[in-house]
Amino acid sequence: MLDVSSPGAQAVVLAAGRGTRMRSARAKVLQPVLGAPMLEHVLRAVGAVGADPLAIVVGHDAESVQAAFAGRGTFVVQEPPLGTGHAVQAARERVAAHPDRTLLVVNGDVPLLQGPTLAGLLEAHRQGGTVATLVSAVLADPGSYGRVVRDGGVVRRIVEARDASKDELQIREINAGIYAFEVGPLLDVLDGLQPQNAQDEYYLTDVVGLLAGAGGRIGAVKVEDPQEILGVNTFAELAAVSGLLRQRILAALMAAGVQIEDPATTHVGPDVWVEPDAVIRPFTFLEGRTAVRTGATVGPFTRVFDSEVGPGAQVLDHCLLLESVVEAGASVGPFAHLRPQSRVGPRAKVGNFVELKKTHLGEGAKAPHLSYLGDATIGPRVNVGAGTITCNYDGTEKHPTRIEAGAFIGSDTTLVAPLTVGEGAYIAAGSAITADVPAGALALGRARQVVKEGWADRRRRAKEARKA
Ligand code: UD1
Ligand code: CA
Repeated sequence: MLDVSSPGAQAVVLAAGRGTRMRSARAKVLQPVLGAPMLEHVLRAVGAVGADPLAIVVGHDAESVQAAFAGRGTFVVQEPPLGTGHAVQAARERVAAHPDRTLLVVNGDVPLLQGPTLAGLLEAHRQGGTVATLVSAVLADPGSYGRVVRDGGVVRRIVEARDASKDELQIREINAGIYAFEVGPLLDVLDGLQPQNAQDEYYLTDVVGLLAGAGGRIGAVKVEDPQEILGVNTFAELAAVSGLLRQRILAALMAAGVQIEDPATTHVGPDVWVEPDAVIRPFTFLEGRTAVRTGATVGPFTRVFDSEVGPGAQVLDHCLLLESVVEAGASVGPFAHLRPQSRVGPRAKVGNFVELKKTHLGEGAKAPHLSYLGDATIGPRVNVGAGTITCNYDGTEKHPTRIEAGAFIGSDTTLVAPLTVGEGAYIAAGSAITADVPAGALALGRARQVVKEGWADRRRRAKEARKA
């Protein structure tokens, strides 16, 4: 948590809007930015300044938003959503309960916002002794943002682009949708909002004009990096913001000693942990709660989700890892698929076209080619020959396979589970194994080979005789 030296802030996050411009059935604030909902990013920034209590205004698809953020704040339902001012009106009771705590109001659609900017806003608000302070940015192209209208340098009001005059549209200082308010003065004017504008909505931005009109002083803090306050209203903006966050994450990793060979094609999510001296090769996706330890190499063309790649381990080209662990010095791929709850032990090897599901490969064990290993516990130093398949499913239930230390499974073996192959046992290539194999034994489960000497010549002569 940051030291904000401005104690006692509460917050209201606005997340009730429909997101009309996205033309999506899903609530806008649930649209993902690098795998986490847009609102998650905003709540983290708000959480960083320790705002308490935190109210989240929900409306459009309220159930989904509440389910996704259960326990993260108190929910206020705004139904129907009639504008950002109406959203704060919906939270009126909550806000009034803490009249002495400065109120942060934050739009739910600014996913690049960071804690220090909110801390700076609270600090400027406190120092300036203003009734309201807003975050602004100076943009080369102010587009559809609300404009900050000043008079003699003093903030007078905000005008929405839709309602602005030609001259006002020239103003390049925009309103970011992030504010600090003194509760008393805000509540005094909040109910005076009128939906008289191009959208027939109750605009929170009109509060600024009302407060200034009543003699209140309004502050504005300009953000250093305008990218941080980009609002997301369309899928194009969602993609642009995701790209910026991606660059921010990659830059931080490289600064911390991670080798990213090609940042343009590398995707690392916000909850991924990569240690110095790991190498991330091109076209690699590290997602969810993934960790890549020092000295590990991942990629190219590989996706890792909710998994751990241990120190010095290699995950080679074209692999997919889900909820799995690759331990120190192990090697996976190319073209391997690790499905959930798999674990590749230290220095073990999973080679090309091998699929693991709920399978543990012990230290130094190998499954180098073309195998399906499901619900299997495989001991250290076991060699799994090419084409080995665990038949773990009987059509209704899944059954376990256990292969103990040092066993050797010949190529093209089918292991019909439930089954145990004992320590050091051998299984002959091409076997269908249906019963347990004791330690140290050799098991053969295949037809005995028959050799018919001279058969080909006899066949040819018989054919020639028929023709003659
Ligand atoms: C708003 C500001 C604009 C500013 C811009 C910054 C207003 C009137 N305008 O415009 O000055 O430049 O943000 O990005 O505030 N919401 C609700 N309930 C509603 C309507 C919206 O909770 O009834 C929420 C939305 O979910 C969203 C946020 O408020 O998270 C902003 O709403 P949006 O419609 O995107 O406002 P903008 O038009 O972008
Ligand atoms: Ca917006």
